Amino acid sequence: MADVEYLKSLLTAHPDFPQKGIVFLDIFPILRNPVAFETLVTNFVHHLNSKTVAQSSSKKIDVVVGLDARGFLFGPIIAMRLGAAFVPVRKKGKLPGECVTATYEKEYGTDSFEMQADAIKPGQNVVVIDDLIATGGSAKAAGELVAKCGGKTLEYLFIIELSFLKAAEKLDAPLYSLVQVD
Ligand code: ADE
Repeated sequence: MADVEYLKSLLTAHPDFPQKGIVFLDIFPILRNPVAFETLVTNFVHHLNSKTVAQSSSKKIDVVVGLDARGFLFGPIIAMRLGAAFVPVRKKGKLPGECVTATYEKEYGTDSFEMQADAIKPGQNVVVIDDLIATGGSAKAAGELVAKCGGKTLEYLFIIELSFLKAAEKLDAPLYSLVQVD
């Protein structure tokens, strides 16, 4: 709990960014501080190694999927600590080779995500990671990409959850977040 309060204290809020009406919550102050960054990664790894996710269902996590772009900053570190693969979900048009695609609406605007079609094998256990979940559109699209490849999403993980937007109701697996904003 103290760790979470510490991480929460480092987050900064930027009103009207990137457009009027959005209060942008910035995680970069955590990454600037190696003690905080280690605390963040350790929290996620302990959670993923806990009974609630992998062990209770005797399921090893095979793949950590990180969302473009801030999911790329800590997803690979968590994947390496778990002995899992890291797979990026990118904005459309950025990945080479055959891709699967899903479209979604964001808190501001719409977008399409892609994942390389051979990145997840049928039956693999997957967790999806990003910095923040708002309406849940991007996380839901990522879950659709995992499903299109035959993977099973065990959980969606975020540093920050805008819980008043009720994204958890949209998702096909449990949501874990360190900090909830009501
Ligand atoms: N992505 C979507 N909404 C956001 C917010 N309020 N702060 C940071 N990233 C976001």
